[in-house]
Amino acid sequence: MSDRSPYYITTPIYYVNDRPHVGSCYTTLLADCAARFMRADGREVFFLTGTDEHGQKVEKSAAARGLSAQALADENAAHFREAFAFLGCSFDRFIRTTDADHERQVQEAVRRLVASGDVYLGTFEGWYDEGQEEYVTENQARDRGYKAFNGQPLIKAKENNFYFRLSAFQAKLEKLFEERPGFVRPEARRNEVLGRLRAGLQDVPVSRTSFTWGVPFPQDVAGSKDHVVYVWVDALFNYITALGLLEPGGGGGGAGAAARFWPAGVHAIGKEILWFHAVIWPALLMALGMPLPRCVYAHSFWIRDGKKMSKSLGNFIDLETIKAYCDAPPGGFGIDAWRWFQLTQGPIEATDADFSHGKFVEVYNADLANGIGNAASRVLNMIEKYFGGATPDPGGVTAHAGHDWPSITSSAVASVRAGMERFDLGAALSQAMDLSRRVDGYIVATEPFRAAKDPARLGEVGVVLYHCAEALRIAATLLSCAMPQKMAEVLRRFGQEPADGSGRFARPLAELTAWGGLKPGTRVTKGEGLFPRWDPAAAAPGSAGS
Ligand code: MSP
Repeated sequence: MSDRSPYYITTPIYYVNDRPHVGSCYTTLLADCAARFMRADGREVFFLTGTDEHGQKVEKSAAARGLSAQALADENAAHFREAFAFLGCSFDRFIRTTDADHERQVQEAVRRLVASGDVYLGTFEGWYDEGQEEYVTENQARDRGYKAFNGQPLIKAKENNFYFRLSAFQAKLEKLFEERPGFVRPEARRNEVLGRLRAGLQDVPVSRTSFTWGVPFPQDVAGSKDHVVYVWVDALFNYITALGLLEPGGGGGGAGAAARFWPAGVHAIGKEILWFHAVIWPALLMALGMPLPRCVYAHSFWIRDGKKMSKSLGNFIDLETIKAYCDAPPGGFGIDAWRWFQLTQGPIEATDADFSHGKFVEVYNADLANGIGNAASRVLNMIEKYFGGATPDPGGVTAHAGHDWPSITSSAVASVRAGMERFDLGAALSQAMDLSRRVDGYIVATEPFRAAKDPARLGEVGVVLYHCAEALRIAATLLSCAMPQKMAEVLRRFGQEPADGSGRFARPLAELTAWGGLKPGTRVTKGEGLFPRWDPAAAAPGSAGS
């Protein structure tokens, strides 16, 4: 029996000193695909994304542009929100860490942590990575040649700060990792974190005094004057403040109706921020006596033609390039083709994934133009031509020409659902796409276009085309979470009601994907080509050509 509980999925909140790009879009698309699938599957879903707006880096970038930090945050938060909406991301809330309800609840969290003794006032001296806004240990600093993530020198910083007693959670965290092997995934990432965890934990600062752009420490805490909450702590709390869990009167259980979504099903993140999510975040939650997320899923990175993407190399796949790819054909591939590529070819496992135009074209032509697009056109054309556009009646036949369709489709549905529940999205989607390949193979084996020449064999042609149409209807239903617009179009052409804007269908997925849902006699429409073939020799859209 699959899980029926409310499903809460989150992305990192993105720094507003940057603009959306292939990486931020990737994590958000993964979350969108899972959210849409779970909604279709009848689960209550809350999908959260947003922006991380405080900290020195934002303050400095804003100053460099002669803007207030708030103005820069407003400008770039709008870019992220628009980019994600443009890509069809169906988030239920776009949180900004400057939202009043978030700030209020962060202060409440700090108050509780001070009251419990998990946060205390002390002095700290250590190596600070200004770009990442993070302290690194002496060992890490040495290993990296005293260089920050961005190549600049690390800074020796000394501060009078509030600290979180992270060291007190070592045993509990190790126990968590042992008892719940799926807490951090993929497994290779879990093992990395566990190794570092076993090496020992130091207390971590949770306040800063060297700048002011942050959530002020609650003034009722002794010694808090001029302290702002460290940006990472502020940021991590977004996952519960978005649900109102720390609103006064909530008692940790939360005052609002959205509180029922906690704990999160999946925190989808990139590998570089795993430590915060896999160690610091659960420790903070333990200190507050709150349930822990079910899974922190850390994917790897998109790289470009074998190289890391960076501003200095100027090889980032930026929003302009993404939008050029998303232009409708013939200039671009369309939004759903972009989604398909990112969702199925991305670095969801422990290795990085390369973005290249050549690969994009290959996947587009194989899966979409020559794949489901071609299969749908062929079947719709034949129903039009041989049956006047009315879905033929298979006359009770289900297994035919070596294809037991009800069992083929039901096992595809089961593996897609299992993959989605494991957050193994690429595998889940390829199982759904495989149905369309099976339809192709079946057409090749049964040659309905040849049989149709003989009026005595029309019944047999009807059996074949009903099976094809029904299998494609089920495939398109399953693929709607990845390609909402195009699959809605396929479903409409087969006379079916598509999902709504957030991925939910009028009926639950289990019922919709049961064999026989397509009623004989249903009118179909041919329509234009869904995914026109792309000439591999043609130039790449935008500037991403390679
Ligand atoms: N603000 C913090 C996160 C706080 S979460 C409580 C942050 N922001 S970020 O803007 O730098 O975004 C980092 C995230 O963007 C990564 O974890 C990942 O989700 C995504 N990506 C950024 N570059 C990426 C690639 N090149 N490839 C894939 N995703 C990457 O860190």
